[in-house]
Amino acid sequence: MGLHQSELIGLLREGIDSQGGEWADLGAGEGAFTLALAELLGPGAHINAVDRDGGALRRLAEEMGRRYPATKFDVRVADFRRPLPLAGLDGVVMANSLHFLRDKRDVVASVHAMLRPGGRLIVVEYGADRGNPWVPHPFSYPRWETMAADAGFEGTRLLGTVPSRYLGSMYSAVTFVPLPTRAG
Ligand SMILES: C[S@@+](CC[C@H](N)C(=O)[O-])C[C@H]1O[C@@H](n2cnc3c(N)ncnc32)[C@H](O)[C@@H]1O
Repeated sequence: MGLHQSELIGLLREGIDSQGGEWADLGAGEGAFTLALAELLGPGAHINAVDRDGGALRRLAEEMGRRYPATKFDVRVADFRRPLPLAGLDGVVMANSLHFLRDKRDVVASVHAMLRPGGRLIVVEYGADRGNPWVPHPFSYPRWETMAADAGFEGTRLLGTVPSRYLGSMYSAVTFVPLPTRAG
C-alpha cells in the first residue's frame, strides 16, 4: 500500500472524536490501520482485529504489544462474512477489505448490527468503481454513500483522500448508526 504512518493516521483522524471505546478492525491484515487506530484511540481502548489470515494477525499482535502495550487488544481468526461475536461496538474500521466482495450488502448489514446506536463505521477504499485482479470490486465514495444509506447508516461523510499508485486514489469515510428518535 506504501502509505506513511502519518497518512494512515490522517485518513482516520477526523472520524474519531473521542478516546477509548470498543472497536473492531475487520480485515485488519498486518494492521496498518489498526496501529493508526490504536494511536488515535489512546491507551483506554479495546480493539478487536479480525482477519482470516492467522499469520498476519500474529504479526500484528506482536507489533501492537511492542508499540501499544496499554491498549487492550484481541485477535480473531475468522471470515467476516460469517457471524462474529461482536456487539455494542463504538466503532468499526474496514480498510481495503470490503472490495473483495462483489455483493457487500450482507456484511455491511452485519456491521450495522454489531455497532451501538450512534456507533460509527470508517471505511478506507480506493476511489474507483472498476477493479483489477488485486482489487476486484472497489467502490468510489459516491457509491459508498448510497450503499451506506441503503444499509440504514446516516451522516456519511468523506474524511480524506490520498493519492495512490493503485487505482489513482484512496479515500476514507465515516458513517453512523442512527440514534433512536425520541417519541412525542
Ligand atoms: C488488502 S488487505 C488490507 C489489510 C489492512 N486492513 C490494511 O488496509 O492494510 C485485506 C485483508 O482483508 C482480509 N480479508 C479479505 N476478505 C476477508 C474475509 N471475508 N474475512 C476476513 N478477512 C478477510 C485479507 O485476509 C487481508 O488481510
